[in-house]
Amino acid sequence: MVESAQLFEVSPVIPVVTIEDPADAVPLAQALLDGGIRIIELTLRTDSALESLRRISTEVPDILIGAGTILSPSQADAAIAAGAQFLVSPGTTPALLDHLLAQSVPVLPGVATVSEILTVLERGITTLKFFPAAQAGGQAYLKSVGAPIPQARFCPTGGITLATAPDFLALPNVACIGGSWLTPMDAVQEKNWQYITDLSREAMTLGR
Ligand code: 3PG
Repeated sequence: MVESAQLFEVSPVIPVVTIEDPADAVPLAQALLDGGIRIIELTLRTDSALESLRRISTEVPDILIGAGTILSPSQADAAIAAGAQFLVSPGTTPALLDHLLAQSVPVLPGVATVSEILTVLERGITTLKFFPAAQAGGQAYLKSVGAPIPQARFCPTGGITLATAPDFLALPNVACIGGSWLTPMDAVQEKNWQYITDLSREAMTLGR
């Protein structure tokens, strides 16, 4: 099993992936892998998300597959049962945090305020998702937070593009970023796997 901190070392970009048709799950994951990406945050936003998670976890073992958009304890349980190797939440409540920390997989709790950051740090977790990153203050916000709270390390996600990624990755408290731009909906619908591989390869050049 990987530790939370190790999630941050896998790739400069964690693709945030939403899949409608589970038949797309394996070729999409393979396309990311072919471009060098070895980690996915699969959002639990579609009816078929758990089935897609199951397929990727069994058929593409070289990808670290996690579940995102975890809003409730029951979603965390379902994701783990489907093969999720890590869990990501967009925000943090005391009940959700309790449940996430009781699991045997690494977690990236979502935070957007200083008090939320402190709440998660109090529980011994220093790897956090900053969401929604661009909208909640972006790179300037993370820079300010880094002065009083340097021990918190972030994966900012939300509104980040290939063009803005370097500004985030240049910060000492940012280990990697998340983004959905590697798997555009139209490319998935057209099954344009080569395009997704090309985007992945381009994202891998963002290395620190
Ligand atoms: C997320 O769930 O983390 C975000 O929806 C991803 O944000 P983006 O689509 O702006 O990259």
